[in-house]
Amino acid sequence: MHFIPEELDNYVVNHTEKEPKLLQQLTRETYQKILQPRMLSGAYQGRVLSILSKLIRPKNILEIGTYTGYSALCLAEGMQTDGVLHTIDINEELETFQRKYFDLSPYGEQIHQHVGDATQIIPKLDLKFDLIFIDADKPNYPAYFDLVINRMNPGGVILSDNVLWSGKVIDAVAEDDFSTKALLEYNTLLLEDHRVETVLLPIRDGLTISRVL
Ligand SMILES: C[S@@+](CC[C@H](N)C(=O)[O-])C[C@H]1O[C@@H](n2cnc3c(N)ncnc32)[C@H](O)[C@@H]1O
Repeated sequence: MHFIPEELDNYVVNHTEKEPKLLQQLTRETYQKILQPRMLSGAYQGRVLSILSKLIRPKNILEIGTYTGYSALCLAEGMQTDGVLHTIDINEELETFQRKYFDLSPYGEQIHQHVGDATQIIPKLDLKFDLIFIDADKPNYPAYFDLVINRMNPGGVILSDNVLWSGKVIDAVAEDDFSTKALLEYNTLLLEDHRVETVLLPIRDGLTISRVL
């Protein structure tokens, strides 16, 4: 969803770095072969993730929700040369596709894939992180925050995607809309938790930057 007029959005995109060729290829193949290609981070958001990662220069990155690997590759662009990126997805059918693109990139050996439920996998990762990207099932966002907050290095950054949920966060919420309910809880939690400093950016479907104090 675009929250600014299309013409202005085109201007924004036209004045932003272009998407690398490998990511164009990954996007094409995702649309050809994989269900729900709308889950991909788009080119513009990908450049935002890339530049944020380059500014942070993380050594250890954790991504929750790999899908076909687009955002992992964007985040990896800013990783230190001896850094590692751990990425988790519950859908085992995506593993081969992800690995193909990770190995076509310069970061293949630094990216570690984990298949399974992130709530089960995160506690088993014996690492502290400088950058975390939360982009999986929305009802678990508050649980993901609880699982990662003590696993951050000081000054580390948690990025959370889809926090505006197509604008549903300001509408009346249906009783059975567990994703919107969880995002409302999550957005308030980030703001009120004194361990992080948070800014919600209206980029694409809403991207929150939370800096760990
Ligand atoms: C929106 S997609 C991720 C998109 C990807 N980050 C990108 O920008 O290209 C969400 C992914 O989260 C995964 N997922 C959903 N529930 C999960 C869970 N409990 N643990 C791990 N992954 C999960 C889905 O299989 C899906 O691939």
